[in-house]
Amino acid sequence: MNKPGRERLHSNWKARLVQKGKASGLHNGPGDAMKLTWLGHAAFLLEGKDTVVVDPFLTGNPVAPVKPADVKCDIVCVTHAHSDHYGNAVEIAKRNRAPIVAILEVAAPAQVAGAETIGMNIGGSTEVRDTKITMTNAIHSSCFVGDGKVQAGGSAAGFIIESGPKVYHAGDTAAFGDMRLLGELYEPDLALLPIGDFFTMGIAEATKAVELLGTRRVIPMHYNTFDIIKQDPGEFKGNVSRKTKSEVTILKPGESYRLE
Ligand code: NI
Ligand code: MN
Repeated sequence: MNKPGRERLHSNWKARLVQKGKASGLHNGPGDAMKLTWLGHAAFLLEGKDTVVVDPFLTGNPVAPVKPADVKCDIVCVTHAHSDHYGNAVEIAKRNRAPIVAILEVAAPAQVAGAETIGMNIGGSTEVRDTKITMTNAIHSSCFVGDGKVQAGGSAAGFIIESGPKVYHAGDTAAFGDMRLLGELYEPDLALLPIGDFFTMGIAEATKAVELLGTRRVIPMHYNTFDIIKQDPGEFKGNVSRKTKSEVTILKPGESYRLE
């Protein structure tokens, strides 16, 4: 996407949002709180100053508690191109007239598919409405697969999403030493970390990730969606409480957590 195109997209949705006002009516007002709901797998709905949905893989997700049409949001964030993350992003973005925030190589095909997009890259931040979004590195791959073709999806990423409280969504990733840097730079209030193993960190690596990040509140994700990523989140919670001062909260798909 070239620069004038990006600017045009930005000004379009900004202008429209000013006319429309807040989309969902679910906002917390001026306070610094967020309601976070696990939509299964890596999908979360964050209702802070804005309502942000991350990695909305709902169709084909056996544990998804909602349908794509049920999701009301202002912003859609996608960590990488794999179908269990990109999922229903385009459909949800179009229905809500919400921009998709993703790495350029994921944003470009989403734009071709008719969504408004903000194509950014790792290490950078953008402000969308009242939310600050920083894209972080993740150690993982990224591609689109369909119609017998594979299309590159850029690098896999994670996000620091500040909409009131600050949430780190790690995306799909291995544990990596620079999680310490992310902890120091961004001091997230809560971390969403994959523990499913096989495609991402397992429990031992995710426990180390909590140590590196130093984030006090942690919610595990990307496990028990499918047999191949079957894990006991209680084991993760026990490990983290033995080795760190952080607290793990285990959600069931559809359950919410209030972050003050
Ligand atoms: Ni993936
Ligand atoms: Mn995945």
